[in-house]
Amino acid sequence: MADLGVGVIGLGRMGSLHAEHLQGAIRGARLVAAVVDSDHRSRFQASGSAPCPLVADVAALVRDPHVDVVVIASPSNAHQEHTTEAALAGKPIFCEKPLADSVDGARSAIADITRAGIPFQIGFQRRFDPGYARAKTLIEQGAIGEVEMFRGLTCDRIPPIDYLRTSGGLFRDLGVHDFDAARFLMGDEVVAVQATGAILVEPALSEFDDIDHGIVTLRCARGGLGVVQNAWRAPAGYDIRAEVHGTAGKVVTELDEDLDTRLYDRRGRVVTRHFEFVERFRPAYRLELQAFIDAVQGDKPVTPTANDGLQALLIADAATRSRREGTWVTIDD
Ligand SMILES: NC(=O)c1ccc[n+]([C@@H]2O[C@H](COP(=O)([O-])OP(=O)(O)OC[C@H]3O[C@@H](n4cnc5c(N)ncnc54)[C@H](O)[C@@H]3O)[C@@H](O)[C@H]2O)c1
Repeated sequence: MADLGVGVIGLGRMGSLHAEHLQGAIRGARLVAAVVDSDHRSRFQASGSAPCPLVADVAALVRDPHVDVVVIASPSNAHQEHTTEAALAGKPIFCEKPLADSVDGARSAIADITRAGIPFQIGFQRRFDPGYARAKTLIEQGAIGEVEMFRGLTCDRIPPIDYLRTSGGLFRDLGVHDFDAARFLMGDEVVAVQATGAILVEPALSEFDDIDHGIVTLRCARGGLGVVQNAWRAPAGYDIRAEVHGTAGKVVTELDEDLDTRLYDRRGRVVTRHFEFVERFRPAYRLELQAFIDAVQGDKPVTPTANDGLQALLIADAATRSRREGTWVTIDD
């Protein structure tokens, strides 16, 4: 079967990594074209370092007959618009998280995707990380008995304030990965949240009512509980952890995918660590894109889906509301 031509929207931190993988590391796909904003285009023109031809705009990219599938890695507040454009052109989509910058926007994106009948995968790469995948397998095999508690932690260094302005807030930008991990690993839905937060790093976050430290308590449909801890502070480097407790043990996956996910009924130890999320999840970012290409080529269902994107967004938005209002918030989906 011929390779799928891929068009990439956005060549920043994430788009450039996907573009790099699409230049030889993804079986069955090749990078064809990309689109960036005018500032970025000028920088590429000055440096001559664009990884592929840059087209004028998103409409030209999705209409390009050599573009078979689209990777969306533009800022979060453009995902819905770009999803709609690619869906209208009938092109399968891999989209970075979050699905949209509002729940209504996410529902509208899902309607467009459904109407177009195209494959759509959301970028929750942790599901493809060997550590998280192993934890999921152990849980499904019954290694920890009945699942009762989840603990997720993500701490990273704070991105530029201009990125944060369009990110949707700490819980939508950072916590969303932990909320998806909670659903994925517990095999359950989050039904209510209570959150608190603080500004300890960047005072300018108060201009748009955001925070840089936050803690969210989760209540799940089958009665299980969880806690998610997020911070835009990681002086010792990117820090990440997921821990699931059951009636017969617990699984933990954390800093380094080279170490085995540890099952705490008999053994466990920590080894080396990564400094940047791109280093920590580089193999997972490649594996998620490979899974998308394989599914599109093989006409198989893709996962995680747009609905997974919506569910994580609902949790993130409920957490933001809870933090602002100081009450438990029920997730009404
Ligand atoms: N999965 C993950 O772990 C992960 C990690 C970081 C970021 N992300 C997500 O990836 C997305 C991009 O983040 P980033 O850090 O790469 O951002 P970035 O600011 O580094 O890059 C954004 C890119 O989009 C381009 N762009 C901006 N507006 C555009 C438009 N209207 N049309 C076309 N291109 C446009 C810019 O030129 C730039 O190339 C965000 O939604 C973010 O939430 C995901």
